[in-house]
Amino acid sequence: MTVNSQIRTPLLQIADLVTRFGKFRALDGVSVEVGESQAIGLVGPNGSGKTTLVNTVCGLYPSASGSIHFAGTNLTGKRADIIAKAGINRTFQISKPFASLTVRENVEVAAHHARHPRDVDEVLEQTDLASHSRASASNLTAAQQKRLDLARALVMSPRLLFIDELAAGLTPNELQDVAAMLRNLVNDGVSLVVVEHLMGFLEQVVDGVYVLTAGQVIFRGPLRDALADDRVQEVFLGRNDSARS
Ligand SMILES: Nc1ncnc2c1ncn2[C@@H]1O[C@H](COP(=O)(O)OP(=O)(O)OP(=O)(O)O)[C@@H](O)[C@H]1O
Ligand SMILES: [Mg+2]
Repeated sequence: MTVNSQIRTPLLQIADLVTRFGKFRALDGVSVEVGESQAIGLVGPNGSGKTTLVNTVCGLYPSASGSIHFAGTNLTGKRADIIAKAGINRTFQISKPFASLTVRENVEVAAHHARHPRDVDEVLEQTDLASHSRASASNLTAAQQKRLDLARALVMSPRLLFIDELAAGLTPNELQDVAAMLRNLVNDGVSLVVVEHLMGFLEQVVDGVYVLTAGQVIFRGPLRDALADDRVQEVFLGRNDSARS
């Protein structure tokens, strides 16, 4: 069973995407498909291009070639705000809340930029932040900041969400909670692309994975098969930090 066989209508279709920084091809012809209500994992060693893929699809970096189609619309080269309004949102590898605002205000600012904002209180409930809504964002724990980042993305009513290393630095209990939260999102019809180094966490959340190395996809399919794949093992060899569970 491959990632592809689970997809009926790809919601997101990334084809042969190339992103350059000068002459360096951080993405070197990447093709990824994500179906409706599907969660896929994006794994690969440090510097393999995972965040670059998120940033390119979300319109922060221009692509040199290739295409991005989402829900039947060509989003290649579109501005970040247009892409967000089309229904693609993301969390950041390093959370960037407005530190001087409260938790609620941070979510309200995001809601303000949405075409169809969700109810702020409902999103705060969903991300387990309701009891902290009046706290200053700067006083949150690392886990709460990550959930605030998620809340800011969720309030925009995404159809597809890129999650860039949400699990890093969380305790085992916090990881369980976040995994359940993400799985509930998928059950509610949101598609996810989860960038993650923690395989045990990914196993609970995703339907399949893409493995990226040096800007190229070297494997797509179930996580279990990825971990048993010779090329994937080679890529992770000596990089135990990238394949820990
Ligand atoms: N803005 C940029 N300018 C120049 N080079 C960049 C830029 N962003 C990323 N790169 C380079 O592109 C490559 C891919 O980086 P990227 O951040 O996408 O990796 P990653 O897979 O997300 O790694 P990590 O697991 O460490 O987060 C790296 O060599 C990085 O140095
Ligand atoms: Mg990254």
